[in-house]
Amino acid sequence: MSWEVGLLITGGVLALAGLLYWQLIIAEGTYLGPRVVVLLYDWSAHIYERIKQFDVGSEQWFLGIPLTGALSMIPAPLVLDVATGTGRLPRALMRQPGFEGQVIGLDLSRRMLRYAVRWTAQFSDQLTYIWQDARQLPFDDDTFDAVTCLEALEFTPRPREVLAELVRVLRPGGVLLVTNRIGRDARFLPGRAFPRQAFGNVLRSFPLEDIRVRPWQTHYDLAWAIKSGEPRGGSVRPLSQILRCPVCRHQLSRRDGAFHCEGCRRFYPIADDGVIEMARSARQPARTRKESAK
Ligand SMILES: C[S@@+](CC[C@H](N)C(=O)[O-])C[C@H]1O[C@@H](n2cnc3c(N)ncnc32)[C@H](O)[C@@H]1O
Repeated sequence: MSWEVGLLITGGVLALAGLLYWQLIIAEGTYLGPRVVVLLYDWSAHIYERIKQFDVGSEQWFLGIPLTGALSMIPAPLVLDVATGTGRLPRALMRQPGFEGQVIGLDLSRRMLRYAVRWTAQFSDQLTYIWQDARQLPFDDDTFDAVTCLEALEFTPRPREVLAELVRVLRPGGVLLVTNRIGRDARFLPGRAFPRQAFGNVLRSFPLEDIRVRPWQTHYDLAWAIKSGEPRGGSVRPLSQILRCPVCRHQLSRRDGAFHCEGCRRFYPIADDGVIEMARSARQPARTRKESAK
C-alpha cells in the first residue's frame, strides 16, 4: 500500500470517527431521528444518574423551591414534566414539603421511565408516567398548572413544535419551565439549540408573558414564563378526565388494564410498573369491537 493510500484511509477513518462523535455523542442521535435518540437513552438509562450526578441542594434551589413557590396559590397543582427521563423534576417537586399536587412524567424512552418509576417509588400516589412522544401530547388544551421540559428540546426533530405542544396543554396563568442548550456544543446543534438571545424571542412567539431566560448550568439556560390569558384555579382531576387519545384526541376510558379510545378504537396498555404505554398503542381487533358495541 502506498503512503498516499494509507493517508487517505487514515483521513477517512478520522472523518468517520468525527462524524460519529458529533452525531452520537454531542447530538445524541437528534439528526438521525427520534428512534435513534430513544435507542441511545434506552441503552444508557442504567448509567444516566451516575453520569449526571444531580446535586440535591442545587436541584432544590433551582427547580423544586421556585416551582413549588410559583404554584403555591394552587391547592393541588397538576404538573406535566415532558421528557422526564429518570424522574429528576418529579423528585425535585416531591422533596418539597409544600408540594401536594400531582405530576405526570412523559418520555419516549421506556427504559428511562422504568428507572423513573424505581427512583420515585415512595411518591407513587402522586405520580403517573406515560410512554409517549413529546410531539403529540395526549392531553386537552389548557390542562396543566405547570409544564416543564428540561434538557430535552434539542433532542426533538422540531423544538418549536414541541414548545407549541407544551404551551397548548398549559392553562392560562400556568407556569412554563424549559431549558435551552448553550455553550460550546450548542454550536454543533443547528436547528435544535437556539442562540442565547434568540431563545427569548422564540418564547415570545407563543402566547407567553413574564419571560425570563436565566443562565443555569454550563450547558443550559433555564427559561420561565407564564401563559397569557385569564388565569383560572387549577385542581387535580382524575387521569381519565384529562387523558386524550394522541391520535384523534378523543377522551379515553379505563378498563381491563388499559385506556381505550372510543373514537379511533385504539387502546393503550398500562404496564405492570404502572406506566401507560401510549407509544405501544394497538387497535382493538374487529371481533372485540363488535362485542363492545353490543
Ligand atoms: C437529557 S435527558 C433529560 C431527562 C430529564 N428531563 C432530566 O433533566 O434529567 C433527555 C430525555 O428526553 C427524552 N426524549 C427525547 N426525545 C423525546 C421525544 N420526542 N419525546 C419524549 N421524550 C423524548 C429522552 O428519552 C430522555 O429521557
